[in-house]
Amino acid sequence: MEFIKVTEQAQPSVALIELNRPKELNALNKQLMEELRDALQALDKNEAVRVIILTGNEQAFAAGADIKQMADKSAIDMLVIDQFSTWDQIRKTKKPLIAAVSGFALGGGCELAMMCDMIMASETARFGQPEIKIGTIPGAGGTQRLTRALGKAKSMELILTGRFLAAEEAHFYGLVNKVVPVEMLLPETFKLAAEIAQLSPIAVQLAKEAINRSFETHLDEGLAYERRNFYLTFASEDQKEGMKAFVEKRKATYVGR
Ligand code: HXC
Repeated sequence: MEFIKVTEQAQPSVALIELNRPKELNALNKQLMEELRDALQALDKNEAVRVIILTGNEQAFAAGADIKQMADKSAIDMLVIDQFSTWDQIRKTKKPLIAAVSGFALGGGCELAMMCDMIMASETARFGQPEIKIGTIPGAGGTQRLTRALGKAKSMELILTGRFLAAEEAHFYGLVNKVVPVEMLLPETFKLAAEIAQLSPIAVQLAKEAINRSFETHLDEGLAYERRNFYLTFASEDQKEGMKAFVEKRKATYVGR
């Protein structure tokens, strides 16, 4: 891996992926995205990992897709390169994926953060979709996910002007879960990850799927989907253990079966 760093057990059951192209503010070139896809697929299969954290560095989570790599491409080049199939695979990660964002999360960087399940932000985090300033528009979900998160008016403002959204404002709009001082970003993110990692990974996965389904379907179908996943948890040892532990007034131990 040249452009990312993976620590499988950064803390028990929690993996850490660091984007690592610091000189280019973690601009997301094709190779970086493919490495990220491969790492996520491997961690998804690794039973020792229950939660994944994705981060950049203090200066940047990621300043967008690599403009230098795209600048001269034709529409057909872009179609043939088909970079979004990699993004689609990343989106299919089953385990909880938490973005820890400091500094710039712009363009594809903002879209990558929004593809994660939760976003923890440091006080220096800046979110934006500035593609309009370079004559294009968001291409990895920005017009859709930002609008779902912020609502139409704010999303229009950000995408049509290319303005940045500061961390506190992002929190106000519900784009991020929490804003913390820079030095607390990873400790706080690990704390959140550890809380999830001690729960049933089966229930966590089924809950994540059901929440994501709410963005893709109408209420009736979403409720039916949730109900099927709810019933499915009753086929797991973890559900038996969780309810038994409650009755016996002890802490449950979840095995992911
Ligand atoms: C390639 C980038 C880059 C990017 C920064 N760099 N962003 N290279 N692609 N997206 C490089 C710069 O060229 C420079 O390298 C180095 O990183 C440091 O950047 P500076 O501009 O010198 O830093 P600064 O003055 O602090 O400004 C930071 C910045 C600015 C405001 C974040 O870099 C910027 O505006 N970047 C582009 C943001 C953007 O438009 N993102 C959207 C991209 S399109 P050198 O070697 O020149 O010194 C997109 C479409 C997504 O994401 C579609 C789906 C994939």
